[in-house]
Amino acid sequence: LKRSEDNLRSPICCIMGHVDTGKTKLLDCIRGTNVQEGEAGGITQQIGATYFPAENIRERTRELKADAKLRVPGLLVIDTPGHESFTNLRSRGSGLCDIAVLVVDIMHGLERHTIESLNLLKMRNTEFIVALNKVDRLFGWNTCKNKPIVKAMKKQSNDVRNEFKRRVTQIITQFKEQGLNTELYYKNKEMGEIFNIVPTSAISGEGIPDLLLLLVKWTEKTLVEKLMFTNEIQCTVLEVKAIEGQGTIIDVVLANGVLHEGDQIVVCGTQGPIVTTIRALLTPHPMRELRIKGSYLHHKELKAAQGVKINAQGLDHAVAGTGLYVVGPDDDVEDIKEATMQDMKSVMSRIDKSGAGVCVQASTLGSLEALLEFLKSPAVNIPVIGINIGPVHKSDVRRACAMLERKKEYGTILAFDVKVTPEARELAKENGEDKKRETSGEAVFPCRLKIMPDCVF
Ligand code: GTP
Ligand code: MG
Ligand code: NA
Repeated sequence: LKRSEDNLRSPICCIMGHVDTGKTKLLDCIRGTNVQEGEAGGITQQIGATYFPAENIRERTRELKADAKLRVPGLLVIDTPGHESFTNLRSRGSGLCDIAVLVVDIMHGLERHTIESLNLLKMRNTEFIVALNKVDRLFGWNTCKNKPIVKAMKKQSNDVRNEFKRRVTQIITQFKEQGLNTELYYKNKEMGEIFNIVPTSAISGEGIPDLLLLLVKWTEKTLVEKLMFTNEIQCTVLEVKAIEGQGTIIDVVLANGVLHEGDQIVVCGTQGPIVTTIRALLTPHPMRELRIKGSYLHHKELKAAQGVKINAQGLDHAVAGTGLYVVGPDDDVEDIKEATMQDMKSVMSRIDKSGAGVCVQASTLGSLEALLEFLKSPAVNIPVIGINIGPVHKSDVRRACAMLERKKEYGTILAFDVKVTPEARELAKENGEDKKRETSGEAVFPCRLKIMPDCVF
């Protein structure tokens, strides 16, 4: 397949922003689903992915008389958590995307993680559109279900329009304080220099057509080179999930290339590279969320961009946040195995060679890196002798217990966002209950409770 402007892949769009600004709800509104109400505490805790085919986007934007044909096959949208614990997931999401939507609550303006997201986007030079969400909360708002925003604004009273103007002006000023020029998209005369703001409501759908059309048109206009389809696989592991009766399945984002059933793949594992064969390639239905259980579509092959579930043997120790490689007919498996383990190696090299230190365990490579970085900082300075990704098993506890005899204050596992198996907990109790009290002083781990809330023993 030749790289050409006539063969574009779907752009990947990441939804970012402060907690509860309505990121998931906006996607629900476009999908016609109710994912948000099913979330524990109404909080997103995982990266999600949804594929929107071009025909759905065309349908949804018809009122804007966008007769021009869309050149991309669809849009892959990545939902990220806004809660403060998930900086690593936001970072992983923003690292995957071609374009982003930064969601701001019109009633709150810029908040802490709006600014954090903004900085991630600036750092990677990612184009983005601001969705100024919850316009329906303006006092006296007249609902105009799913209408383009300019039409909806015409139906509002003077009071609502003035209140809207006042808040928009304030938020534009807040962006300016962050060094960014922004403007309502329908007034923006310098697209490219000035970032677009699209007012939206995730509840009644005003502005959604505008957001979708702008996303697709903007990516087609500015990212053609980046969106040219290639056969070279670009694929990242998002989540590693044990599914009862089916072994372990990985959720991946396929950003470029084609995956086939039967492909030989290599992924990074905590115990070394994993070489296996794709047994099944699954996606949710279009307009459905990858992270929500449902019926899946089986595919013989899948073209980027897509959020995909891969079923294969031996994926138990796969590491989320690392790349997935396909072994081609001319490739040397050994080379690929080595490439796969690069990310892991850079983390491994931080382990203390003196043999005294704590053990650290996290759910993803990204969060493990963040933890190691923190422990290494001069203010904290705690050596690490063992790391692992995934649940804490008995063997992990045994490794930490060995330290009790050498340097008992290090007989500790700092575990972040991982489960502890009952057997592991039992073993830790037998060996460590007393020591727990001895070693859990704030002086040793000043910020422990803040960044490692799950378990320390
Ligand atoms: P996290 O993923 O946890 O960061 O939150 P989020 O940004 O995905 O926000 P979410 O979709 O969970 O919405 C948070 C709350 O705001 C929910 O109660 C929604 O019903 C409400 N909400 C979201 N969008 C709108 C909107 O446009 N208008 C109104 N009135 N409420 C909204
Ligand atoms: Mg959410
Ligand atoms: Na929420």
